[in-house]
Amino acid sequence: MTAFKELVFSGVQPTGNLHLGNYLGAIKRFVDMQARDAQCLYCVVDMHAITLWQDPAALRGQIREVTAAFLAAGIDPKRSIVFNQSQVPQHAELAWVFNCVARLGWLNRMTQFKDKAGKDRENASIGLYDYPVLMAADILAYRATHVPVGEDQKQHLELTRDIAQKFNNDFSESIAAHGHDEGAGFFPITEPLIGGPAARVMSLRDGTKKMSKSDASDNSRINLTDDADTIAAKVRKAKTDPDALPSEVAGLAGRPEADNLVGIFAALKDVTREDVLRDHGGAQFSAFKGALVELAVETLAPLGAEMKRLVSDPSEIDAILADGAERAEAIAAPTLDAVKDIVGFVRRGPRLRAV
Ligand code: TRP
Repeated sequence: MTAFKELVFSGVQPTGNLHLGNYLGAIKRFVDMQARDAQCLYCVVDMHAITLWQDPAALRGQIREVTAAFLAAGIDPKRSIVFNQSQVPQHAELAWVFNCVARLGWLNRMTQFKDKAGKDRENASIGLYDYPVLMAADILAYRATHVPVGEDQKQHLELTRDIAQKFNNDFSESIAAHGHDEGAGFFPITEPLIGGPAARVMSLRDGTKKMSKSDASDNSRINLTDDADTIAAKVRKAKTDPDALPSEVAGLAGRPEADNLVGIFAALKDVTREDVLRDHGGAQFSAFKGALVELAVETLAPLGAEMKRLVSDPSEIDAILADGAERAEAIAAPTLDAVKDIVGFVRRGPRLRAV
């Protein structure tokens, strides 16, 4: 039982072209979460982006592009809070406190750091190593209870839960003394929401590799700003095997490309793989790809066009980000005040005289 009010938080890094994997695995699910009776916060995590070097002008463009994707996909900036991380100082502040809660041994186990740092670990930024702690701060600054993320973020969510738990334990007396015990500690133990038919969207050229912005072949992914003809061409060129589609999900085992295309179709259409195979089982790929082209173009082409429109005049996006930051800060600031009291800092009181 949790005493915490349901609150949804998630983030997307502004580090390059958004593709179908980002849309189906994250953004589309953020849109769907708005149907819940909960405040949703969607954050463009620019402070995470600079854990790997980013060209400054490109970064600015990508922050606006991710925001545009959120809006074009149907995130309502009045109902949800859309903002970028660096405009809300509480993320960095809470991350410092969490740096003093998290243990080296915990971070040493993070597989994403090992992947991203590669062989030259000595030369990786400290920010890259600390990335999961900042992510915990993102989530817990709002005491978020639910976080929709892709499968690859599961380990980071577990770390977030460990940090919340350790903070609650290490400071339990102080939490109670300051009247911040919600009956379940100060921080909630956040639930990851992982799943859906496209939790992992794979490359169109190799069904065993994740769709990725860094794949050398542009045909491996559908970018959210691809036009209708490009989308159609990429789907038609997608790798398949020679057999017809099975009529049951079990028949997709060992057929990664077939599984991926069926998963994409299901996610775009908001149905299950079972539903897709009920309609298309027995079809040849040429026919199925025709149906997939139609569905993908119908969904993605207007989304890409709206993104381009929004990005062409950033003033609307920038105003939405400013409004979102203000509303986000209104939630995060009281959390940080409480954290400062709990750990024993002396907070700045009211100023004695106006300056
Ligand atoms: N690490 C996440 C990713 O790469 C992005 C992210 C940062 C995030 N902070 C978050 C996701 C907080 C969910 C909640 O996808």
